[in-house]
Amino acid sequence: DDAASSDGLQLGFSAVAKNKNDWVTVPEGYQVSILHALGDPLQFGEESWKGDGSESADSYLRRIGDGHDGMYYFGLSDDGKFHADRSDRGLLAVNHEYVVAPYALHPNGMTAGAARLPAEVEKEIYAHGVSVVEVKRSSGNDMAMVRGSRFNRRITSATDMAFTGPVQGHALVRTKFSPDGLQTRGTNNNCANGYTPWGTYLTCEENWLNVVSRAAGDDAKRSAKEVVALKRYGLPENRQSPYLWDTAGSDDLFARWTSSVTGANAQNDYRNTANTFGWVVEIDPFNPESTPAKRSALGRFNHEGAWPAPAVAGQPIVIYMGDDARNEYIYKFVSKALWNPQDVNGGMAIGAKYLDEGTLYVAKFNADGSGQWLELSYGKNGLDANNTSYPFTDQGDVVVHARLAADKVGATKMDRPEWGAINPRNGEVYMTLTNNSNRVAPSATPTGSQLKPDAANPRYYSDSYTNNDGSSKSNKGNPNGHIIRWRENGGSSAATAFAWDIYLFAAQADAAGDVNLSGLSAVNDFSSPDGLYFDPRGLLWIQTDDGAYTDVTNCMMLAAVPGQVGDGGVVTAAGGTATRKGANASPDNLRRFLVGPKDCEITGVALTPDGKTLFFNVQHPGEDGSLSQLNSHWPASQTNPAATQRPRSATVVVTRTDGGAIGL
Ligand code: FEO
Ligand code: CA
Ligand code: CA
Ligand code: CA
Repeated sequence: DDAASSDGLQLGFSAVAKNKNDWVTVPEGYQVSILHALGDPLQFGEESWKGDGSESADSYLRRIGDGHDGMYYFGLSDDGKFHADRSDRGLLAVNHEYVVAPYALHPNGMTAGAARLPAEVEKEIYAHGVSVVEVKRSSGNDMAMVRGSRFNRRITSATDMAFTGPVQGHALVRTKFSPDGLQTRGTNNNCANGYTPWGTYLTCEENWLNVVSRAAGDDAKRSAKEVVALKRYGLPENRQSPYLWDTAGSDDLFARWTSSVTGANAQNDYRNTANTFGWVVEIDPFNPESTPAKRSALGRFNHEGAWPAPAVAGQPIVIYMGDDARNEYIYKFVSKALWNPQDVNGGMAIGAKYLDEGTLYVAKFNADGSGQWLELSYGKNGLDANNTSYPFTDQGDVVVHARLAADKVGATKMDRPEWGAINPRNGEVYMTLTNNSNRVAPSATPTGSQLKPDAANPRYYSDSYTNNDGSSKSNKGNPNGHIIRWRENGGSSAATAFAWDIYLFAAQADAAGDVNLSGLSAVNDFSSPDGLYFDPRGLLWIQTDDGAYTDVTNCMMLAAVPGQVGDGGVVTAAGGTATRKGANASPDNLRRFLVGPKDCEITGVALTPDGKTLFFNVQHPGEDGSLSQLNSHWPASQTNPAATQRPRSATVVVTRTDGGAIGL
């Protein structure tokens, strides 16, 4: 019942007003500090970040990367092990999604021209990936990075990794680097994340198309089946990646960024580069010498993140995942092995036990509020050689091409699945659907990738406004996004059926009633939900990465006491589609907690077990600017509004001045 899902939980801060300031605004009684930012050195012996792009490429193997995104706090015991309850000392793993603002990284911005400079590309390769740093409480509940800690580590787009699960040794992942298909190099475009109950970090490869190209004329050198697959993953022939890493030279460090046939077979070229990205990667933060593993059983797509259901002894490990692209799907993985709590601190060997064998499913949402998990196993549901649009050969082929498998079984195409979160009080799963410009009116005739609204993605409308700078902008489709949630049948995370509703519809407070379906007001209106996190107490944190409400406010984070599936009713959304919605938002159950600096996205959030130290990330402050016209000077502008420094992505620490618990 409602009491069980929210008992004793009450928001205890004053809402922050929407604003366009170039700093982080937190509620009265709260304070912020910067934990680490782009370019900060992890070890002693390295110069501090200078702010002029003069740091060497090589030094980024020992510096904090760019584009801070998903993260997780692991408590650290005195003997260097995972200690889930420890709040004053821990390891913080942070994704460095992409080189957000090349103007912050290089002396003169990103050099234009057909071929990139090797020194720039090398620096960008090392500025991607993941950082693991030790953090320790300093004064009060404030946290600082422990420079020189033996746990401090960078994982980059060049780090050696293992392939495990169904594609281990598979022909689809053989490369010149690893002719036997057992290894690969690098993780990049790591967006959101997950963690495991045994104490490892999961980092997820999302927009790898940013850095992977494909040569003109490559289709003719491929089988028909390969051409279908490459197109389905957004990589047609004659496609140059935005970052052009493959143009920096013939050295392997650069050549491998074009997924093109250049040699006699896959063992002596990089035709399979595309198949080596789009995975969930497991990292053991407690063992800096360990080799990360691409856990292929969890499928390949634009992996936003990987969110585990609470582990129950004797039950499978269950992980929820989203594919963040327009009209893509929601997935879950159910392990074959059953959870044994004695496996805590078992490292990568325990990861192999739970994540290399299991069943992959994709979600179908029905109009009546029910849903099914459809199995993606070779030989079932038509996933075999007789599938005419794409004949599957084995389970390795199914996981590499999970999107094609999901197409075949009739899963529901969603409005860009971003982050998920599981309510620790009742096991219900929430997932943000950030927006979708490809939804069209129910009366329209869809063309190309356009889709009409359906019950789970019900809104179509247009939104136009004038920006502060006088430019105008219009959005169509589902520009503000929503948050869907579901309850597994029988309360079992491994169930194959569920009940769902739409927890929240994002909207401007002054939008029409059939757009602002959740009744948002000035204290809690928002657009384009992206990051999502249930803290251990059961508060839900919602973060935005928005382009539709930015005439009024920078991106933000809200806190919520969320209720449960089925607490609303059936309503009709803009566009005329009936849907199931949760109860209305009120200032009591949803409130704006912070607003970020200019042009940023607020992403990544973690709370210490005692609830007194909160971490969040500011990604790409000032992203709409350039080196000659810096739009933001954050984080320097946090304490000095007249600052002129280049903007940097950073991790922020939030504490209460009275030392109390955050949010309550
Ligand atoms: Fe990296 Fe889907 O956001
Ligand atoms: Ca995101
Ligand atoms: Ca996003
Ligand atoms: Ca963004």
